[in-house]
Amino acid sequence: MESIFVKTSSDTGYDIMFERDFKALSGAIEKLGFKDRKIVIISDSNVFPLYGEAVIKALEPVTTDVYNIVFAAGEENKNLDTVKEIYKALIEYKADRKDLIIALGGGVVGDMAGYASATYLRGIDFIQVPTTLLSCTDSSIGGKTGVDFDEYKNMVGAFHMPRLVFMNLATLSTLDDREFASGMGEVIKHGLIKDAAYYEWLINNFNEINDRELDTLSHMIKRSCEIKRDVVEQDPTEKGERALLNFGHTIGHAIEKYMDFKLRHGECVALGTIAACYISYKRQMLSTEENYEIRDMFVPFGLPITLPDDTNVEEILKLTKSDKKMDGGRIRFILLKDVGKAYIETGVTDEEIIEGIRQLII
Ligand SMILES: NC(=O)c1ccc[n+]([C@@H]2O[C@H](COP(=O)([O-])OP(=O)(O)OC[C@H]3O[C@@H](n4cnc5c(N)ncnc54)[C@H](O)[C@@H]3O)[C@@H](O)[C@H]2O)c1
Ligand SMILES: [Zn+2]
Repeated sequence: MESIFVKTSSDTGYDIMFERDFKALSGAIEKLGFKDRKIVIISDSNVFPLYGEAVIKALEPVTTDVYNIVFAAGEENKNLDTVKEIYKALIEYKADRKDLIIALGGGVVGDMAGYASATYLRGIDFIQVPTTLLSCTDSSIGGKTGVDFDEYKNMVGAFHMPRLVFMNLATLSTLDDREFASGMGEVIKHGLIKDAAYYEWLINNFNEINDRELDTLSHMIKRSCEIKRDVVEQDPTEKGERALLNFGHTIGHAIEKYMDFKLRHGECVALGTIAACYISYKRQMLSTEENYEIRDMFVPFGLPITLPDDTNVEEILKLTKSDKKMDGGRIRFILLKDVGKAYIETGVTDEEIIEGIRQLII
């Protein structure tokens, strides 16, 4: 099947493989030099029962020395307590630096297994086997790993590149609709920041996408991965260009906190995107039609475009300003110069942010 390659500055780079089953997994792992090594699968309590056995079976040609670590699913477990349990199990299984970790699951598994891999014995190799739309198009690529600390999201982490990202797109069939829609929040973002033609394609193919038609999903996920790949290759440690991926996230993260994490991440990104587009429109970089088309396109993908009437706009503004992605006290806001062309703007005013948020309360 198809694959794309991600260059990295410090090591060999890695492939992203787009498959429809797990058959090619053992060959790819053997090519990386892990024949007969120990493999530890880290997964969560929803994903492992669904796909754990299929992965273990698929690994047989390369090794049968396979262990698994399964933790309770959910963002609330993406913390150092769970990492400690992972370390304990890795020690118990006598995993050493020549062995391999497989992160099998969504972004929570990928971030946490990645962080455990980055730190256990000062770093051991890991591969990502993402199973949510969000992890296939976003979190499995780029080497950002980490966990939440107290109420702070992704506060503790490390850059640690995977040796391979292996997608079995058939796993997306068991994802519930709300999780799938949440992933679409990031996919739509990719079109808006980098590729107007892709954005149009998403609008024109919403039926096939929502039906999770495999050829359409495969095309979409590959294009999103290319966009994320191009951005992270240029700026692996988020000094500039990579910030464009935060489009919709500045206000989005604030909404996420304001709503007490009751909305999915991609839902908040959709709302943050609408606010950021409105600011871009008021600065005359988007036309009226473009602004409303972007807002309305979230609806068929099952994403929200409004907040409750009694939303406290000032509180969201405050949370926006406390986001950790600041640049010497100024918010590094991402706006659109045009559909498909995002840029970093440090001069967005409080009034503009408030007006952007108000668009969500109608
Ligand atoms: N590292 C990065 O660059 C990066 C980027 C974006 C997001 N993230 C992180 O990713 C996390 C969110 O990831 P997510 O949205 O994948 O959430 P998730 O990992 O919690 O998965 C969502 C839910 O779907 C279940 N699930 C996963 N795959 C399934 C499947 N195929 N079938 C049925 N159920 C399945 C999971 O058990 C979970 O209950 C957040 O913690 C966020 O901080 C990281
Ligand atoms: Zn995101």
